[in-house]
Amino acid sequence: MCYTAYLMIIFVMKTFLVNASCVHRLEENNVSFCSCDPAIEDRSWSTFSFLEALMLCSMRCSQTASCVAYNFFSATNQCQLFNQTLNKFSVMPGCQYYYRKDLSATDKNLTIDVDNQLEEIYINGINVMSALNFPHASEWNIPDVYHLRGDLFVIAVKVYNDLYSGGVVIHTADNYILTNNTWKCTNNYADGWYKIIYNDSFWPAANEFLNPDYKGYIGNAKWIYGPNKCEYCKFFCRKSFLSNF
Ligand SMILES: *[C@@H]1O[C@H](CO)[C@@H](O)[C@H](O)[C@H]1NC(C)=O
Ligand SMILES: *[C@@H]1O[C@H](CO)[C@@H](O)[C@H](O)[C@H]1NC(C)=O
Ligand SMILES: *[C@@H]1O[C@H](CO)[C@@H](O)[C@H](O)[C@H]1NC(C)=O
Ligand SMILES: *[C@@H]1O[C@H](CO)[C@@H](O)[C@H](O)[C@H]1NC(C)=O
Ligand SMILES: *[C@@H]1O[C@H](CO)[C@@H](O)[C@H](O)[C@H]1NC(C)=O
Repeated sequence: MCYTAYLMIIFVMKTFLVNASCVHRLEENNVSFCSCDPAIEDRSWSTFSFLEALMLCSMRCSQTASCVAYNFFSATNQCQLFNQTLNKFSVMPGCQYYYRKDLSATDKNLTIDVDNQLEEIYINGINVMSALNFPHASEWNIPDVYHLRGDLFVIAVKVYNDLYSGGVVIHTADNYILTNNTWKCTNNYADGWYKIIYNDSFWPAANEFLNPDYKGYIGNAKWIYGPNKCEYCKFFCRKSFLSNF
């Protein structure tokens, strides 16, 4: 009997590990996110241990066709399943948000051009700037194409301009990512300005402008720049695809 129970545990662990390999816990510098979106299922397993309940929650999500993510509350073993990727979030002690990588948004090619120079670019708070990814970062009339994989929560760029008007333009073929005045831009550096958790609500809306000398294709996107046109200056722009409380 002991042996059967032991095999059972191995089986459960294996299933869990297989599932866990395509589940990603969303956190940033040890700050855990908690989804505030409407749940499609909400239950607690009070008689189980924390780990058992977490396993059950993970399994419940992988067995539910429409489940793409879940919250787990460690204090109460509460499990909330979601049929949409993160939209509204908060930070709550003991609540942890997990999302299924296998069901993540499809890949996108992000076309970016910067006048004059792209200094930093962050996807979901992670710096992806490199000469390999952005070989034309300092050529204002040659775009770079960045292959974006998986869910996008926040995109943030730091731009340097020398003479005349500087700006940045970003687009994807599906129009999901387009620079326009729904972006936020500032000329002032702020700690953590590129993070998912960063509250940009007091940043001004980006200014759109025409860049008539530019010959490249920008689709439905607009060239944008920081609140003040400036020469030999830097500005920061970001776009969050999430809304928090
Ligand atoms: C996250 O927490 C771990 C353990 O408490 C600590 O070692 C690490 O430095 C923390 N990381 C950050 C980015 O705060
Ligand atoms: C999620 O579930 C709700 C309620 O059942 C439904 O109205 C909504 O269309 C679903 N959303 C998606 C993306 O499947
Ligand atoms: C992105 O570009 C690469 C290389 O040109 C291409 O193979 C791939 O199909 C493109 N992906 C999408 C989603 O358009
Ligand atoms: C601005 O860009 C967003 C995508 O980030 C798009 O959904 C929206 O329609 C655009 N607004 C205009 C006026 O084009
Ligand atoms: C973000 O900042 C605005 C004011 O700048 C404030 O009203 C709002 O509550 C803040 N949001 C969060 C989640 O802290």
